[in-house]
Amino acid sequence: MDDVALYAPMTYDESGYPRYAFPANHPAHGDEDYTERRNRIAHLGAQHVYGTPAPEIDYHERDHETWRVIQRSLAERHDEYAATDVVKWAAELALPADRVPQLNEVTERLTAMTGFGLQPAVGFVPIEEFYGVQADRRFYAAQFIRHHSQPLFSPEADVVHELVGHAPALGNPKVAELYRLTGEAVRRVAEPRTIELISRIFWFTLEYGVIEEGGQFRAYGAGLLSSFGELERFREADIRPLDLKGMATTEYDITDYQHVLFAGRSIDHVHEFFSEFLRTVDDEDPDRIGVSF
Ligand SMILES: [Fe+2]
Repeated sequence: MDDVALYAPMTYDESGYPRYAFPANHPAHGDEDYTERRNRIAHLGAQHVYGTPAPEIDYHERDHETWRVIQRSLAERHDEYAATDVVKWAAELALPADRVPQLNEVTERLTAMTGFGLQPAVGFVPIEEFYGVQADRRFYAAQFIRHHSQPLFSPEADVVHELVGHAPALGNPKVAELYRLTGEAVRRVAEPRTIELISRIFWFTLEYGVIEEGGQFRAYGAGLLSSFGELERFREADIRPLDLKGMATTEYDITDYQHVLFAGRSIDHVHEFFSEFLRTVDDEDPDRIGVSF
């Protein structure tokens, strides 16, 4: 996994304040104002105490405009490419279309719907921690928004990915249960390769899953739903039936478009497949399944 591509380089200076250094190919490269705002958001997130309300972010007007552009563009693509259930979940969550929502207000909605809450993710969160807190119905979410110069592209998982991709699913009791069971499974097992196995099944379902609907493939995974490029391309991927061994042995590159995807017959089918795995997975499973790592 190449963390640099998903998480821009950030270090803490001698006073403990976060400092981002965007590489030359990053849309924010050279924008001091944006960099300073990213530093501040990371600073607030780093001070956050687990389980308490997420910090309020003072988004810039340009950030709100980025959000509006994305909302308009994604709505059209979701009509064409998103699973019907996803469109329903998004309508139930009813995120504002005119401004970047705060994690706290989304948490209030989610808490009423499924008990889930969002907490700020700063930089790279270790995998056991990232998934583990889902057992407590918590979900790590980035608070920053991508650079306004390229509203339809982000090299990192930003607040658009979290709120457009994950939050609607976290508001649906059936799918939120899969997030919670993922957390319980990760906390239950001991071997890093078992956690890697769980992470791969999560990747090919809740991040990049599709279902077949009316003779067409439609997306329900957060990574697909929040990416303009992926939405227009995923139907060209090699799309296979749900299969643990296939998911555990298919190499994937998080920095590229996905070439292999796995499709369920419905959200219920995905739930049955993934929840069965999550309830029973143990440290014997990597050998039993015959993983490639
Ligand atoms: Fe994600």
